[in-house]
Amino acid sequence: MDSIHVFLGTSLLVFLAIVSIMVTYRTFMDPPNEFERINQTHFLQILLGSILLFLIILSTLSILIGQGSTASILSEHHFLITQNIELIAIILIGNIITLLLGKKSATLFFLISSMIIALLPTSRYEMIVLPLIAGPISSSLALILPGRIGSLKSGLLSGLITGLLFLGMELSVKDPTVFTLQTEAIAVIATTLLFPMLENVAMPLLEKSLGLLSEASLTELLDLNHPLLREFSKKAPGSFFHSLAVAQIAEAAALSIGENTKLARVSAYFHDIGKMDKPQYFIENQSTFNRHELLTPRMSSLILIDHVRKGIEIGKKYDLPEIIISAIPEHHGTRVMQYFLRKSRDGANSPADFPSESDFRYPGPKPQNKITAILMMADAIEATGRAVKIQDASPARAISVIDETLMEIQKDGQLDECPLTISEIATLKEVFVRTLLQTQHKRIAYPGAKTTGIAPSWKPKDAS
Ligand SMILES: [Fe+2]
Ligand SMILES: [Fe+2]
Repeated sequence: MDSIHVFLGTSLLVFLAIVSIMVTYRTFMDPPNEFERINQTHFLQILLGSILLFLIILSTLSILIGQGSTASILSEHHFLITQNIELIAIILIGNIITLLLGKKSATLFFLISSMIIALLPTSRYEMIVLPLIAGPISSSLALILPGRIGSLKSGLLSGLITGLLFLGMELSVKDPTVFTLQTEAIAVIATTLLFPMLENVAMPLLEKSLGLLSEASLTELLDLNHPLLREFSKKAPGSFFHSLAVAQIAEAAALSIGENTKLARVSAYFHDIGKMDKPQYFIENQSTFNRHELLTPRMSSLILIDHVRKGIEIGKKYDLPEIIISAIPEHHGTRVMQYFLRKSRDGANSPADFPSESDFRYPGPKPQNKITAILMMADAIEATGRAVKIQDASPARAISVIDETLMEIQKDGQLDECPLTISEIATLKEVFVRTLLQTQHKRIAYPGAKTTGIAPSWKPKDAS
């Protein structure tokens, strides 16, 4: 009878260990997680904070064990409960690291926490090995099952894995007692309830205090019913539709070079929210009268530049993540408002009046990452495409317009501070041409259809 227990227990442990090794191998073969790169500036703080939190849990537990160690049976029960709490704490902290920094960083945490446990005089061998088996499986589940409902499912599965590991451990050495089985059942239920609760409480707190970003927050910001986007669509409908068009181009561009498509889309949604303040000064919101005709070029440029400052202010008011707010100034970088610079120079009466280029530059900074660089290019291409009525242009003309726009951005040094490579820029150019032609395509006027003020003026030659 005993040998069957040992065989079953050992088989279960070996099976879970093999699964864990396979998952860990995949972790290091997979390309880097986007959030690992985005949040990497906080890597040390998060890792050290997590280890500190784990040490606090350990020391609290050692005090509890010390209190219960007078009777040997109590000590055994406490030991089992303590092991469960330790393992749940390690896996929970590891899951949070996974969602913020990626699986590689979480694996590092599992290794360090195992080493810490190994140094404790009260530890048994299984507690050194268990985090290394349960941790990688659980962190993979956290990534496979994202979101609020997903965290409930991954909590349940992680709890089951933890329970199975303890069961295998008990079976491999002795008959499991009723107490052992009860403790494991409670541990599975506790994990199922604790994981989504703590992940949903700890994650927003960490994101807010450290200015980080997670997949779950990005998914929430994709919702066009977000209060800020609804306000944007009411106050500046033209700018809102421009942002949707930019989002479509930026998303396709991000996909083509393996960047985070959600981040590209969300950054595009919010990049021009500052235009809500004075919507009528932006061409996409003007119906007939151009307010800039009443202003000096310098005054016009100051109003346009101000949509960046206002956008940052609104973004902070609505608690947008730091990385989304940084896309607001970076989408213009330090570009020059050529139209108003030329107008101002044309109107200069003397050399003293001749304006300097720096007076017509956005304040920057230049794009600091690939997503804001994509956003700058997509924004410029969408606006140029609209201005030159690219829907009526031939593909050759569309390519040359996009070429000119991108060359201007590159020559001005706007992409100098972002890590885009030359081959990535070439790939992006192809995607921009394809997407722009798809989004601003020719709308076919059906025979007999009435032309409204909103419809394009283009008609096929044979239309009546
Ligand atoms: Fe803008
Ligand atoms: Fe824009």
